[in-house]
Amino acid sequence: MAYASKDLIEEHEAILHGLSIFEKMTALLDTPTDALRKDLQDMVDFLVLFADTCHHGKEEGLLFPAMEQAGIPKEGGPIGQMLHEHEQGRAFIRGMKQALGGENVDSGAFRTNASGYIELLRAHIEKENGILFPMGDRFLPPEKQQELLEAFDKHEEEVIGAGVHERLHAMLDDFASRY
Ligand SMILES: [Fe+2]
Ligand SMILES: [Fe+2]
Repeated sequence: MAYASKDLIEEHEAILHGLSIFEKMTALLDTPTDALRKDLQDMVDFLVLFADTCHHGKEEGLLFPAMEQAGIPKEGGPIGQMLHEHEQGRAFIRGMKQALGGENVDSGAFRTNASGYIELLRAHIEKENGILFPMGDRFLPPEKQQELLEAFDKHEEEVIGAGVHERLHAMLDDFASRY
């Protein structure tokens, strides 16, 4: 049977790949060149579009509601905790955008927010892969899993689309060759 979580676990791999590149970029912030600034900007856009809009969008809009419907309570449990962590991630993103938005890059503020984000997301992904997704795999019947996978595809098409997906992958490959 195809579990809906499989698609999300694959996206986690892409996000973790992006985070390890991002970590290398932020290590160069002591001497922020224009080229580095542009790459950081592109990386933040990737995190907003792929990690938050596409991936967290699938979790918040589709998987978590299905799990709640299957009887897993939102408040006081892992779903509530995951939602809270998505919000914490958005706060770090706001901090990064602000640090990049001035005339000069605020390297200290960018680094603080970036390292907070990287640490948060790595731990978050570990919890989802290890605790939350296995719970969903157990609770959701096969037909619901299939329905979710189709809804994921539709969501992805709506918020990203095939062309942009390709472009994001090419961008990560380019980063990986340079950092
Ligand atoms: Fe999540
Ligand atoms: Fe996730």
